[in-house]
Amino acid sequence: MINHLKFINYAHDLASKNFGKTFPNPSVGCIITKNDKIISKGVTSSTGRPHAEEIALRKAGKKASGAKMYVTLEPCFHSSQNGSCADQILRSGIKEIYISCIDPDPRTKNKSIIKLKRNKIKVFSGLEKNKTINLNKFFFKSLIKQKPFTKVKMAISSDEKIAWNNYKSKWITNAKSRSYVHKLRSNSQAILTTSKTIVKDDPRFTVRNKNKIIKNLNVVVVDTNLNIPLNSKVLKNLHDKRVIIFTSKKNSKSQKLIQIGCEVIQMKSDNNSLNLKKLFSNLYKLKISDLFVEAGGIFFANLIKNNLVDEIHLFRAPIIIGEKGIPVIKGNDLKMIKKKLLEKFTFDNNLYLKYEVK
Ligand SMILES: NC(=O)c1ccc[n+]([C@@H]2O[C@H](COP(=O)([O-])OP(=O)(O)OC[C@H]3O[C@@H](n4cnc5c(N)ncnc54)[C@H](OP(=O)(O)O)[C@@H]3O)[C@@H](O)[C@H]2O)c1
Repeated sequence: MINHLKFINYAHDLASKNFGKTFPNPSVGCIITKNDKIISKGVTSSTGRPHAEEIALRKAGKKASGAKMYVTLEPCFHSSQNGSCADQILRSGIKEIYISCIDPDPRTKNKSIIKLKRNKIKVFSGLEKNKTINLNKFFFKSLIKQKPFTKVKMAISSDEKIAWNNYKSKWITNAKSRSYVHKLRSNSQAILTTSKTIVKDDPRFTVRNKNKIIKNLNVVVVDTNLNIPLNSKVLKNLHDKRVIIFTSKKNSKSQKLIQIGCEVIQMKSDNNSLNLKKLFSNLYKLKISDLFVEAGGIFFANLIKNNLVDEIHLFRAPIIIGEKGIPVIKGNDLKMIKKKLLEKFTFDNNLYLKYEVK
């Protein structure tokens, strides 16, 4: 008996390995088999194109004729490099296709499945569908909301403070927790922060392993009054990442930031703050569909108030900072946020808690 589950799971493994490299596209895996042997495989490339099916078909060449395909997301109906993936599958002579999940993108949704079936290809969908959805949560959720999928990370003390009253926040949590933060960063499309956190901490916001930079992450800065210092570390290596700054100001500093390679987006301010819902819609239009927030408790409270948080990642250390410390969420309480625990584990004496916000 053919083990379809084994092949579709192999396609999922391929997709998982590439996750974090295909933004704003989902990471998709594809396997082509003949006589129950894998003859070729593909995974969405790091720029999002070519698609997994296109790579697998190219590698299989003429051998694809009469073969079976296992793919984790419905092949695209709209154009890829050599026409749509659906058309390439038709041209290749593939006779059977197993698709985990229907593509929610209205440009494709069900259209490829219908086209393939009309052309006498046997199509089976739904096998391990939740694996595709869980891996590419950002893709499904951002498409529905037309706003980026947003994860807030907070390193906190047992009394729920994120920094001492002099704004010092190094190092609340231990090295193992901090190294896991780098893993979470590497699975994100961009970091979202405030100019205040940049002024106080001057973070690099890179992905590092043993202090070696592995990736320069895109950074989005909320900066109503353009307070970001021009010598901030996040403004280094602009050839290798996007830095998008939202501000109400248009002046010589905004010109300078554009000159050095930042994208400066002007928005009207209201009571000296920016409309976060509009800002998030703008980010989605700028093709940012996944955010990892590393900012303070004032900004976190504003995000929650605007219903813009999808996940909270807490790292809790067994230290007390005291009443004068900076709170994890200003004017609110973590307990008041409706959320569901998704994961819980420890890094020595630090506790990691991952929540989905309801
Ligand atoms: N432990 C951790 O995981 C962690 C992570 C990141 C940061 N931190 C620490 O957090 C501390 C800062 O926290 P914080 O709560 O004082 O500040 P914060 O939340 O980082 O930033 C607050 C500032 O963000 C801006 N802001 C917030 N909402 C806005 C909106 N809707 N539109 C425009 N601007 C908006 C305002 O800046 P303007 O007034 O300039 O307009 C506001 O003063 C730092 O010491 C940093 O070390 C800790």
